[in-house]
Amino acid sequence: MLRREFLSASLAALALQPADTPAEESLKQAAAPSGLLVGSAVSYREINEAAFAQLIARQCSIVVSENDMKWKALRPAPDKFDFTRADALVTFAEKNGIKVRGHNLCWHEALPDWFSKIANPDNARELLTNRIDTVVRHFKGKIHSWDVVNEAVDVKDMRADGLRRSPWLNLIGPEYLVIAFRAAAKSDPDAILTYNEYGLAPDSSQNEAKRRAVVALLRWLKRNEAPAQALGIQSHLKGKSPFAGLQHFLGEVRELGVRVFVTELDVNDEPFPVDIATRDRMVAGVYRDYLHTMLEERYVEAVLTWGLSDRDSWLRHRENRAAGVPRPLPFDDRLQPKPAFFAMREEFKKASRRD
Ligand code: XIL
Repeated sequence: MLRREFLSASLAALALQPADTPAEESLKQAAAPSGLLVGSAVSYREINEAAFAQLIARQCSIVVSENDMKWKALRPAPDKFDFTRADALVTFAEKNGIKVRGHNLCWHEALPDWFSKIANPDNARELLTNRIDTVVRHFKGKIHSWDVVNEAVDVKDMRADGLRRSPWLNLIGPEYLVIAFRAAAKSDPDAILTYNEYGLAPDSSQNEAKRRAVVALLRWLKRNEAPAQALGIQSHLKGKSPFAGLQHFLGEVRELGVRVFVTELDVNDEPFPVDIATRDRMVAGVYRDYLHTMLEERYVEAVLTWGLSDRDSWLRHRENRAAGVPRPLPFDDRLQPKPAFFAMREEFKKASRRD
């Protein structure tokens, strides 16, 4: 970043700092009085980098492994599980009094290369339950909540039930969701079993269709005695979006007795001007609006961003922009707080003041 840009970004951050908040107050301190858990996805590299580990320990009351608990990471070969990196994360969290979300047990992505060669309709149930039994039992008692099934809905796949035509659906049928939730419940009755999904947060006709399909899916899971106890709303936001329909959606989920976590929050700044100070301010505005809406009813129990520092955001590898690099997270490349950090902290404090 140019020095001039860095200075103007820092000044913008200072301007957003409310007078009644000590400069050093952390996100988790601001959220603690309300009982809200706050944190981030983290990687093995980050927990092994002293400055980063310190940042996580200071800011987070909950973390989730960005990649190290996925199929590909934990099961390099059909007959081999490897927990080295995931265990390191859980040990780090335990040492620092941080809760851990498990992500994830069943997804159409991050399957190991051997999977498609070996899986067939005859062994797919066994492959799924064996993974869930082994992994959930391995971490039993150490996981706050498991993302049991990730991204099972895709209305674009044009099925009446809204389900994505994923390998699991193709191999087992819709029952795979019931199998997954039941297996997870058996292996760790104390973890909160979560259905995690994207494309629910901003209002749009496509997202509204997805909300409908997710509510229907949660109902269907209940009817089929699949213990889905929480909904993870991923919240990968892009640009400035309307959130007017969110309260109603949250109300519907609440009526089903399903708990809610914001699991993967970030704000893609691609639609915003390239000027860094402007962009950072606009990203902060989206954090503020979104968290204001989500936390208003005090129903959401946890807010996790998908990374803490822009430096390590998944969007840096995903996007190839003509100008500028993504700055979607609360801390910049040098681990300094950005306007988004102050906006988050202020919303957490507001939630703490509400009764
Ligand atoms: C992403 C990771 O951030 C990347 O590092 C990886 O290459 C691909 O997966 N929804 C999810 C997450 O549930 O698991 C994804 O994480 C981001 C979208």
